[in-house]
Amino acid sequence: MELGIQNEFTVDKKVMRDHFSKIASKYRSVRTTDTKPILHIKNRLNGKTRINIADVGCGDGRYSLELLRCLDDDCFLHCIDTNEEMLSRLEDYLTEQNTLNFCVRQGDANKLPLESDSVECIVTFNAIHHFDIQKFLGETLRSLKEDGHLFIYTRLRNQNSRSIWGKYFPLFTEIENRLYELDELKRHIQQADMKIYSTKVFGYQRDSSLERLVEQAKNKHYSTFELYDSTFGNYLDEFRKNILKNYEDMDNITWQDENILLEIKK
Ligand SMILES: C[S@@+](CC[C@H](N)C(=O)[O-])C[C@H]1O[C@@H](n2cnc3c(N)ncnc32)[C@H](O)[C@@H]1O
Repeated sequence: MELGIQNEFTVDKKVMRDHFSKIASKYRSVRTTDTKPILHIKNRLNGKTRINIADVGCGDGRYSLELLRCLDDDCFLHCIDTNEEMLSRLEDYLTEQNTLNFCVRQGDANKLPLESDSVECIVTFNAIHHFDIQKFLGETLRSLKEDGHLFIYTRLRNQNSRSIWGKYFPLFTEIENRLYELDELKRHIQQADMKIYSTKVFGYQRDSSLERLVEQAKNKHYSTFELYDSTFGNYLDEFRKNILKNYEDMDNITWQDENILLEIKK
């Protein structure tokens, strides 16, 4: 099978750029947004107010809005992404919700469009595996004020492999080799001269119908699906069969998802 993966670790950048442009208009509707990590971030910020925050790899803004809501709008959010279509969706979405305390900045996580020592907090949701992590960490170190926080919300490789997709969608874990394990993240963070202050694992009991799961995969709600070739349809059929074999009620497929939130300081 020919995958969009050029070698073990390099995914074609254009494939990903096109993927996010294509999915931007429906991204929020095909993904599941978790609010628990937002509340946790608020608690860790410990009542700090009037702060500048950057959401890097913000996509269409589903987490940006949750963050602004949770912090009672008592902050200013810089929404940063390379993808114009995503940013345009974000701008419409946040404006429709009468949110004003944000700005949109097209820019790269590997060269952040932020002044040095300018923000109290940087967050990134479900995006770290798309960045050059070492460059991104270097850039956060430069942009954060003294005592600033970086929060990384992601799923680890082992968490991905235990999801409904990892368990039942052929080749899903093999193809998704961009995600990290915790020890790899720790090594990168140490190398960047930063410190992990806390880690928190979030477990989620999920349920869905087979129909919705198939729709999500067809829409390539995870960019992993973009890396399959034209035989993707055959794997989707296999997935359907695997679910039929392992569950009784196709309107009530249940599983456990897990993600991790890392709190990092300078
Ligand atoms: C999986 S999406 C996550 C979006 C959003 N954080 C969320 O959870 O809904 C990853 C996002 O990262 C963006 N991205 C990828 N590489 C990037 C880079 N080098 N710098 C900034 N953004 C990037 C993509 O355009 C996309 O919007």
